[in-house]
Amino acid sequence: MSDYIWFEGIPFPAIGYEKKIIEESRDKFVIRDEDTVILTYPKSGTNWLIEIVCLIQTKGNPKWIQSVPVWERSPWIETQNGYAMLINKEGPCLMSSHLPIHLFPKSFFRSKAKVIYVFRNPRDVLVSGYFFWDKSNLIKMPESLETYFEWFLKGNVPYGSWFEHTCAWLSMRERDNFLVLSYEDMKKSTRGTIEKICDFLGKKLEPDELDMVLKYSSFQAMKEKNVSNFSLIIKDVIINGLALMRKGVAGDWKNHFTVAQAETFDKVFQEKMAGFPPGLFPWK
Ligand code: A3P
Repeated sequence: MSDYIWFEGIPFPAIGYEKKIIEESRDKFVIRDEDTVILTYPKSGTNWLIEIVCLIQTKGNPKWIQSVPVWERSPWIETQNGYAMLINKEGPCLMSSHLPIHLFPKSFFRSKAKVIYVFRNPRDVLVSGYFFWDKSNLIKMPESLETYFEWFLKGNVPYGSWFEHTCAWLSMRERDNFLVLSYEDMKKSTRGTIEKICDFLGKKLEPDELDMVLKYSSFQAMKEKNVSNFSLIIKDVIINGLALMRKGVAGDWKNHFTVAQAETFDKVFQEKMAGFPPGLFPWK
């Protein structure tokens, strides 16, 4: 059980993070025009998207995704290990981040680097996060889902408030170098989403190459592969049975929220996300 590291109002897990690096990644890290960034609030489908983008880069050939851990293929900018990997990397880089906009590398806002941003129904993000962090040593253990529910609404969870994070990043959605996707659309139309990502990245894939991307990025394929399912993650982070690939569905929150929690959540969502067209959020 670890307490958070707090940096500018945002809680980060105490293992794998350091204030100095979070600050340096914002102020000094250079994102170049040719780089691609996978950007999400944690538990929104980050690793799925990384798998898809890696497979697009190799035109469906699974060799890279089957031999190199996900955190080396697309290192997290703000983590100790990820930052160390990225500052020494040359050429176009693929990288990931969960940072809120005010802590994101400033260099990005002057660049033409491409960002692919995925958001997910925050109710499912909450449930996914509860079952994930609960099996790790990364945060203070919530006593119950009820406790975690309260923490989530207060933003007292890794990377802070989903609402603030999402409102700020969605405000970038009209930019040409910013592709917004939702987990729900990825589930409903995975092939269509992959084609959208190809267009955005300027990659042309043959239909059989696209089939391979679909095949190797499926939930089952990722679940069975230790370089994608987090089973190789360092032992001091895992408590027991930490599983990235839990259910992989949309709407699981309905199996976990009480009626009262669902109503409370709706109220908070409507209040905090009032500035966005309701059609932007593809869930019921
Ligand atoms: P659940 O816990 O709801 O199952 P992240 O990568 O941002 O940590 O997100 C993890 C969530 O994405 C988990 O959700 C996980 O199951 C889901 N996920 C990962 N790979 C997936 C895939 N190939 N298809 C569908 N969902 C996937």
